[in-house]
Amino acid sequence: MTNRERIDNLNQKKALPRTAWVTLLSTFTAEDQEYARTLAQTLAVQKFGKQIFYRGIIEFTNICKNDCIYCGIRRSNTAVSRYRLTKEDILACCAAGYEYGYRTFVLQGGEDVYFNDDRMTDIVSSIHSAYPDCAITLSLGERSRESYQKLFDAGADRYLLRHETANKAHYGKLHPAQMSFDHRMQCLRELKEIGYQTGCGMMIGSPYQTAEDLAEDMAFLYDFQPEMVGMGPFIPHKDTPFRDYPAGRLDLCLFLLSLTRLTLPDVLLPATTALGTIHPQGRELGILSGANVIMPNLSPTSVRKQYMLYNNKICTDEGSGQCRFCLGRRFSSIGYQTVVSRGDYQKQ
Ligand code: 5AD
Ligand code: FES
Repeated sequence: MTNRERIDNLNQKKALPRTAWVTLLSTFTAEDQEYARTLAQTLAVQKFGKQIFYRGIIEFTNICKNDCIYCGIRRSNTAVSRYRLTKEDILACCAAGYEYGYRTFVLQGGEDVYFNDDRMTDIVSSIHSAYPDCAITLSLGERSRESYQKLFDAGADRYLLRHETANKAHYGKLHPAQMSFDHRMQCLRELKEIGYQTGCGMMIGSPYQTAEDLAEDMAFLYDFQPEMVGMGPFIPHKDTPFRDYPAGRLDLCLFLLSLTRLTLPDVLLPATTALGTIHPQGRELGILSGANVIMPNLSPTSVRKQYMLYNNKICTDEGSGQCRFCLGRRFSSIGYQTVVSRGDYQKQ
């Protein structure tokens, strides 16, 4: 079988066996990539039109009890100055975002025990009652099932929890021993059972990653059927043990975005900030490869440099309005429009 045939099979909704994924991901050419890209873009345009959903991301705490080896805000990094936004700060970010046309707010933070269920449900229900026409997405890491349920009941609609890698041994090389692959997978299952639109995803080109690992990621995406997938390149951070590892490759990221669109036609798929960091037109290329979501920063400019998961993150000097208009221009230059909409998952 050729790589084109493998891509055609995906396009015809046939699951690929693991070995076919490994071959595809380890032998693809620029022509294969372009072939998958065209199919994926066509499919995305069929589903969503030339429209991009916006999600405003509010990075409300960079305090984290975890020590993920790749991450710039890991507990062991003493070079970071730590912050927490107050509920009022967060609501002010939402107010500014609402004016700019955002109808989804993403609350993302480190695993900060200060934000226990009482504090977090208070924040979620305040946003929910102030902006009943907006969706609330949470990205707070691993919590108990009860906690996920309380937050859902308080008005959260969606939850992002990247699985980071679907291979348990590889997971162990990216995380300290106290962190459990099985628990992360359990969280993902619970989120889905509760009724969240659930997002998983992996870093591309993380240290020790092999084509077999990525093949497992793709098989996992097919099995789990998430409503959202967040994937972007690994990028080293200078104050982590992975400082000397290379960043993930642009061509591989774009190819995987296209293959993800073919595998999960309806999925909400962002062109990530990390993709925009490894290439000046990374986000536009992501959209042209099958992505349909963009997640600009709504955090106060004063704290943006303190939420550095990796080096050289873009948009840390710009205000929310600047990014909004910058992205509007960028996407209209490739023939796409941005829409004022919650942009919920719709199975077709
Ligand atoms: N490079 C790229 N992505 C990273 N993340 C964390 N650290 C890095 C890094 N060094 C991603 C993880 C996490 C998400 C919030 O950010 O995938 O789930
Ligand atoms: Fe932030 Fe362009 S998107 S400055």
